Amino acid sequence: MKTLLVTGGAGFIGSNFIRYMLDKYTDYRILNLDVLTYAGNLENLKGIEEGKNYRFIKANISDRNAVEKIFEEENIDYVVNFAAESHVDRSIEDPEIFIKTNVMGTQVLLDVVKKNWMLGKDETGYPIYREGVKYIQVSTDEVYGALGKEGMFKETTPLAPNSPYSASKASADMLVRAYNETFKLPMNVTRCSNNYGPYQFPEKLIPLMIANCLNDKQLPVYGDGMQIRDWLHVKDHCAAIDTVLHKGISGQVYNVGGNNEKANIEIVKLIISTLGKSEDLIKYVKDRLGHDRRYAIDNTKITTELGWKPSYTFEQGMKETIEWYLNNKDWWENIISGEYKKYYKKMYEEK
Ligand code: NAD
Ligand code: DAU
Repeated sequence: MKTLLVTGGAGFIGSNFIRYMLDKYTDYRILNLDVLTYAGNLENLKGIEEGKNYRFIKANISDRNAVEKIFEEENIDYVVNFAAESHVDRSIEDPEIFIKTNVMGTQVLLDVVKKNWMLGKDETGYPIYREGVKYIQVSTDEVYGALGKEGMFKETTPLAPNSPYSASKASADMLVRAYNETFKLPMNVTRCSNNYGPYQFPEKLIPLMIANCLNDKQLPVYGDGMQIRDWLHVKDHCAAIDTVLHKGISGQVYNVGGNNEKANIEIVKLIISTLGKSEDLIKYVKDRLGHDRRYAIDNTKITTELGWKPSYTFEQGMKETIEWYLNNKDWWENIISGEYKKYYKKMYEEK
């Protein structure tokens, strides 16, 4: 039995990943370490029972004692680090927590992992680790900065993060790289494009637009709406992380993209037409500061070297996603009407 520590497993991608892994590997034990920020929601894991295969631990990745304790109690083989502050707009308003969680938290994880997986040192002083252990850092295409009309991000593209969020993610990537170079820690970094699908917090473009459309509220489109993102269904992302965890060559970075470049306004109009609403709901608002114009991922390395490829077309993925939000109104209405309401209201007052 392998034991996998998932951090940030009560968030959007982490909770989808836990479901995916519990379904696929019935003999794995999954530990979910999450501090439950505004974005962490145990409702995302509804139906998953605590027991032999699953345990939830409320803790902060920046809390060294708490992380150490988990390693003392459990025989962990793999760590997949999703825990992060993930929203770009919030990082523009208040960057500090992004550095604390995304950078310092990652460093704590790396230190504890290194200490606990190390068996001894070789004659040159490099650590020797237990067989079969690995650390995965879930990163983002935003670390590469922005593209013009042409080109795609490759794993070799220099890092040029533009927002406090992406700068914090790039810093974490550099730390993971350093732990591999200096301490030979078995690791991979994955850098993926914009995810969408069930359980995405309704501050992100797609769930926000679906919720607002259903409530006949304005749809705030930043700037001219012609910014381009590559969209990846969260289930395809989960399969990619599974592939990298089991087949990735230690020390390597893998880009993960869905081959689905879309302008924001196209997506907003697709949601409006699918829900039978009027384009009058669209409101062009002040642009995001430092707004990256275009992202595009070249996923040749993971597809050719590891055999992963996305299975969703954007049309199918969006159809299923919109249906999910229609069938799970309670889930997002609960968020919009709770503590999050204050931020949600502030967002409207400012736009
Ligand atoms: P999310 O905001 O939905 O979830 C983040 C989770 O991390 C929450 O459950 C939160 O409670 C937890 N968390 C935050 N700070 C923590 C801390 N200090 N200790 C423990 N837990 C903490 O984020 P998401 O969209 O699921 O993203 C997950 C990861 O994937 C992030 O690292 C993000 O940078 C990366 N990523 C996301 C996307 C995307 O499109 N959503 C794309 C590329 C990369
Ligand atoms: O590219 C990967 C990244 O994708 C992840 O690393 C981040 O964690 C994740 O939040 C996401 O970042 P974005 O900034 O691209 O996602 P967001 O949903 O905030 O915005 C998507 C695009 O839509 C972006 O160009 C800004 C625009 N937008 C967003 C919101 C919330 C609007 O036009 N209006 C809005 O109200």
